Amino acid sequence: MVSKIIIFVFHILLCLEFRLTKGQTRIKAGYWYSGSNFPVANINSALFTHLICAFAPVNSTSYQLSLSASDEEHFSNFTNTVKKKNPSVTTLLSIGGGGANYSTFSSMVSNSSYRKSFIDSSIKLSRLYGFQGLDLSWVSASTSTDMSNMGVLFEEWKGAIDLESRNSSQTRLFLTAAVPYSPNLDSTRYPIDYMQHYLNWVHVLAYDFHTPTRLNFTGAHAALYDPSSTSNADYGIGTWINGGLSANKIVLSLPFYGYAWTLVNPANNSIGAPASGPAITNGGDMSFKDIKDYISTSGAKVMYNATYVVNYCSTGTSWIGFDDVEVVKIKVSYAKKSNLLGYCVWQVSHDDNWVLSQAAASWIWILY
Ligand SMILES: *[C@@H]1O[C@H](CO)[C@@H](O)[C@H](O)[C@H]1NC(C)=O
Ligand SMILES: *[C@@H]1O[C@H](CO)[C@@H](O)[C@H](O)[C@H]1NC(C)=O
Ligand SMILES: *[C@@H]1O[C@H](CO)[C@@H](O)[C@H](O)[C@H]1NC(C)=O
Ligand SMILES: *[C@@H]1O[C@H](CO)[C@@H](O)[C@H](O)[C@H]1NC(C)=O
Ligand SMILES: *[C@@H]1O[C@H](CO)[C@@H](O)[C@H](O)[C@H]1NC(C)=O
Ligand SMILES: *[C@@H]1O[C@H](CO)[C@@H](O)[C@H](O)[C@H]1NC(C)=O
Ligand SMILES: *[C@@H]1O[C@H](CO)[C@@H](O)[C@H](O)[C@H]1NC(C)=O
Ligand SMILES: *[C@@H]1O[C@H](CO)[C@@H](O)[C@H](O)[C@H]1NC(C)=O
Repeated sequence: MVSKIIIFVFHILLCLEFRLTKGQTRIKAGYWYSGSNFPVANINSALFTHLICAFAPVNSTSYQLSLSASDEEHFSNFTNTVKKKNPSVTTLLSIGGGGANYSTFSSMVSNSSYRKSFIDSSIKLSRLYGFQGLDLSWVSASTSTDMSNMGVLFEEWKGAIDLESRNSSQTRLFLTAAVPYSPNLDSTRYPIDYMQHYLNWVHVLAYDFHTPTRLNFTGAHAALYDPSSTSNADYGIGTWINGGLSANKIVLSLPFYGYAWTLVNPANNSIGAPASGPAITNGGDMSFKDIKDYISTSGAKVMYNATYVVNYCSTGTSWIGFDDVEVVKIKVSYAKKSNLLGYCVWQVSHDDNWVLSQAAASWIWILY
């Protein structure tokens, strides 16, 4: 009798697990950024389900994608190269990025003939180079007009993708977007209904909440939680879901970098300690790899704070906040527990011997 009950319970558990994962691949994505100069051939593709090639710029008069000669060389071989180590990895081409020209995108989305040039050229370029999807990374969209036009872009883009797939008998291209941690901006919000309807999924960029150039106190720049403010991933993910985006369309971004602050008083080195700007040039931005190198040379002790879910270390007047292996594991567990579609890494070149990518890919369940 007891063994029958155990088998019955086991059966239910199996069904539950099956139901959660049926028909859906958990996404373990990584961005490769051309500006990193990291060789595409060195990416450990086996640790990812999706690799995203970033970023294709948009021509400010033709509104077509226009690659520089050197980007063309790398982008054209990206898919073939990463598939050598993992033939089943899916590749996407990301358009725009943090440095993209705001007025070009704002203008492109505002006019149907500009949108058509953009859409047609994006589909053409992705087919030409064997990408299996397109990712819009226009993170400077800010007005309510931008937002409603962006919604229309997504609708037309998806329509063109469906048509092209039927016409060419090729598998439909994926359509995704990279967006801020919360859909709510000062006076407007992202077109969530359109995103829910027309996008395959969304990369939620939950980082850069606090940076040394903007804040004279040390902070957890990619906090998972924050009891005293809304600047945290958990809050942002909640606002996307409450706004109507399904959890299973959300891919949580993991920053493979941190920030280095200069402390005012070396003895006051907790989170929220007084600081006086970045400890290094370039805004204090440091790759995980450089942080690990710094830790091994300086002998700094790595601390963990569970209130924010962040690691940090300090020596003298330098203070660095970052996501180490334990934070990555907890964030991935959070994504899994919240039934999100998966995670994406910014950016693969910042990892140190793939330790973070490996920790994330193992989907380890941690109780916390
Ligand atoms: C942008 O497109 C215009 C018109 O097609 C072309 O004349 C110009 O050279 C392009 N600019 C760049 C930077 O590719
Ligand atoms: C791209 O691939 C082609 C053919 O495989 C090869 O000849 C060429 O050298 C590659 N270019 C780069 C930049 O890797
Ligand atoms: C951005 O694009 C606009 C045209 O859309 C152009 O006038 C402006 O010079 C560009 N700005 C930069 C920084 O390239
Ligand atoms: C879109 O741009 C084209 C070409 O510049 C122009 O002829 C047309 O009037 C514009 N449409 C709208 C709605 O602004
Ligand atoms: C469909 O494919 C044909 C032949 O390749 C092409 O001429 C036509 O323009 C395509 N139509 C659309 C809507 O893409
Ligand atoms: C995290 O840091 C804050 C600020 O220094 C502190 O108040 C809090 O107690 C720390 N949390 C843990 C769990 O140590
Ligand atoms: C650290 O700085 C904070 C903020 O100025 C202050 O409240 C706190 O007393 C300081 N702690 C120490 C140990 O100096
Ligand atoms: C931070 O402190 C430095 C030095 O005291 C000062 O120059 C800078 O303006 C301050 N930055 C901010 C954002 O308050």
